Amino acid sequence: MPLPDTMTALILRHDGYAKDRSTGTPTDLSPFLELAEVPVPQPGPGQALIKVARAAVNPSDVMFVAGLYGQPRKAGQPAGFEAVGEVVAGDTPLMGQRVSFSGAGLGTWADYALADVSGLIPLRPDVTDEDAAGLIVNPLTAMAMFDIVQQDGADGFLFTAGGSQLGKFLTALGRDSGVAPIPVVRREAQVGPLKALGAAEVLVTTDPDFPERMADVMKTYGPRILLDAVADQISADLFFAMPRGARWIPYGRLSTEAPRLDQIGQFIFMDKSVQGFWLAKWFTTTPPEQVGKAVAAVQERFASGKWTTDISAVLPLRDALDRLPEALAAKDAKIQLAP
Ligand SMILES: NC(=O)c1ccc[n+]([C@@H]2O[C@H](COP(=O)([O-])OP(=O)(O)OC[C@H]3O[C@@H](n4cnc5c(N)ncnc54)[C@H](OP(=O)(O)O)[C@@H]3O)[C@@H](O)[C@H]2O)c1
Repeated sequence: MPLPDTMTALILRHDGYAKDRSTGTPTDLSPFLELAEVPVPQPGPGQALIKVARAAVNPSDVMFVAGLYGQPRKAGQPAGFEAVGEVVAGDTPLMGQRVSFSGAGLGTWADYALADVSGLIPLRPDVTDEDAAGLIVNPLTAMAMFDIVQQDGADGFLFTAGGSQLGKFLTALGRDSGVAPIPVVRREAQVGPLKALGAAEVLVTTDPDFPERMADVMKTYGPRILLDAVADQISADLFFAMPRGARWIPYGRLSTEAPRLDQIGQFIFMDKSVQGFWLAKWFTTTPPEQVGKAVAAVQERFASGKWTTDISAVLPLRDALDRLPEALAAKDAKIQLAP
């Protein structure tokens, strides 16, 4: 079928970064995005054009749209980091193939998107579009960070925002590998589902017994890795309560509270350290065979049901700006966009 000349897309209104980068993430994206009819992009050398079937809405997308992420915005370009769709044009033998992909410069919240051919992930038929729409950002981050946990060799590991999609992936990885997953959450309602998924313990930060429960966990499991998406004072308290050799790995900034590092001696005398994780860097520093193995393992986990993506809403692209505020305010599951 011939391709149309134009397409619908949610395009960025602003360039660069937000002036105030200390704010929380918004739920209303209409100040930052507009629904527009734009030319269908033309693939250049080494690029493919994908007809988008489903696109993920992750916290990183919302932060990027609001100018709070680690990459500058370019006004007029579609938003959206990842999606699933069919290759319809370009410099590739994968024509007609269903692929997961991340956008090459231009985003995925659109009818069509460009991707680098080298980054296309041809999909197994038994991986659903629901899982394939978000197959890169969270699943590969979970795999990469869990490698760090396994290399560390402790009996258990801690991770904040434990009820997030990524937290659920980490819980299942710990369960399947015999390293006790210990999610940290702020709502009691997340305890049952995480226990059912295989969490060894769930620490609830709003629980009056939180300090005692935290101390018990340190004694029982001796966790030395803290995978941290929140980065607030509780994260710092957890880290300073961890044993010798502990590593604090911030990979998200869901809180606007700045943690206080008031026990600097632990960096000197207890061999503790802080080092962030960013998937974009992991891609550039990891050998391609290892990336390929991780991608195959992610697909196997989805196909076999060891992982599932919990979805709360699938919003038509054309209604997304109106419906995102309510959908983003709801808890515990992912939103996806469908052109
Ligand atoms: N560095 C990287 O390369 C990388 C890659 C992928 C993902 N990430 C990060 O991973 C994190 C999780 O992503 P996701 O897609 O799995 O998230 P998600 O499914 O959308 O879930 C977000 C979770 O964060 C919790 N949360 C939000 N604000 C919080 C706060 N101030 N204090 C404590 N908990 C809070 C929410 O808890 P409630 O339900 O209680 O609101 C919810 O469980 C995000 O920060 C994302 O940016 C980073």
